[in-house]
Amino acid sequence: PETISVAELANRMATRVPDVIKALMKMGVMANMSQILDADTAELVIQEFGHRVRRVSESDVEIGIEGDLDEDLDRLPRAPVVTIMGHVDHGKTSLLDALRSTDVAAGEAGGITQHIGAYQVETPAGSRITFIDTPGHEAFTAMRARGASVTDVVILVVAADDGVMPQTIEAIRHAKAANAPIIVAINKMDKPGANPNRVRQELLQYEIVVEELGGETQDVEVSAIKRTGLDKLEEAILLQAEILDLRANPERAAEGTVVESRLDRGRGPVATVLVQKGTLAQGDIIVAGAEWGRVRAMLDDKNRPIKTAGPSSPVEVLGLSSVPGAGEPFVVVENENRAREISEFRQRRIKEKQAAGITAARGTLDQMLA
Ligand code: GTP
Ligand code: MG
Repeated sequence: PETISVAELANRMATRVPDVIKALMKMGVMANMSQILDADTAELVIQEFGHRVRRVSESDVEIGIEGDLDEDLDRLPRAPVVTIMGHVDHGKTSLLDALRSTDVAAGEAGGITQHIGAYQVETPAGSRITFIDTPGHEAFTAMRARGASVTDVVILVVAADDGVMPQTIEAIRHAKAANAPIIVAINKMDKPGANPNRVRQELLQYEIVVEELGGETQDVEVSAIKRTGLDKLEEAILLQAEILDLRANPERAAEGTVVESRLDRGRGPVATVLVQKGTLAQGDIIVAGAEWGRVRAMLDDKNRPIKTAGPSSPVEVLGLSSVPGAGEPFVVVENENRAREISEFRQRRIKEKQAAGITAARGTLDQMLA
């Protein structure tokens, strides 16, 4: 499991050793330059420095610096991935449902109202936006932290009658840690006590200055219940996406993240995944967290069977050996042996960590964002 020295890591990132040591200290890890780090820790450091990570094998980490991997040669525009965050009961799920109702393709599928954790909307002008819901409770802090890292844009939902609350602040921190631009959705504008200006003022304290107050953060007044302001919110997202110039190469093996998962009585383990790079195809062998399997079937967000899913698509995947955790990354591997090897390795690691009484990845991630 041990993989790279602090000095070598600094060298590969073209960073100074003391800066790497400082980053480790922030994560609660005391290290000197010859210290050997495990792949998980190295990965966190690499991300902290704003580089992309590629796991060449379970025990080795490759540092991808924007623009230098072959996958970047053929990149095509992709839909923005938007995470909705905010305080409990401020209307994240309601807003997600309301936005879903604006989908021009939804009618064809027969008005499905069943809740899922991720879906894609097509606007009347033909643009696509992928939305991800996040659970609203403290226990999901780690997942939300990861949620922010799969995210291009964060919608910060603040109820106009309640204002900035503890989990609003937490969401702001996650968004900032992930370097994701924020769009403020001031929700519940239909309520008698709605006071959007108070929300704008309160946000100043957290260095969010909305356009109306001379800043750069877009803010939109909405009501998820009355379904007002939704077109403006979508416009704001698309404007932000244009600035970010989001691209991915669809012509490679898929990689992405598990958004949610469950054990279905009839169908076995079902994972909703977000494809972030490449194209996921039926029959592919994937490893997600410590689980693996051959993709037996895929359903899109409207419950229709599909054979392939490209970048920024949320899909339900059937065929995994067991239920992977939300927030776990998934990759397509070349064969079953490789999948089994990685899966066994990860399961062993999980047991080791449990035995040591540490949940290292979670712990360090939380400390990093604390
Ligand atoms: P958690 O997932 O528990 O954190 O909550 P949430 O942020 O997803 O909030 P949810 O969408 O469940 O809404 C919470 C409550 O606020 C529900 O009773 C909604 O009906 C209500 N609500 C949401 N949006 C609006 C709105 O625009 N106007 C009014 N009046 N009520 C709203
Ligand atoms: Mg909710």
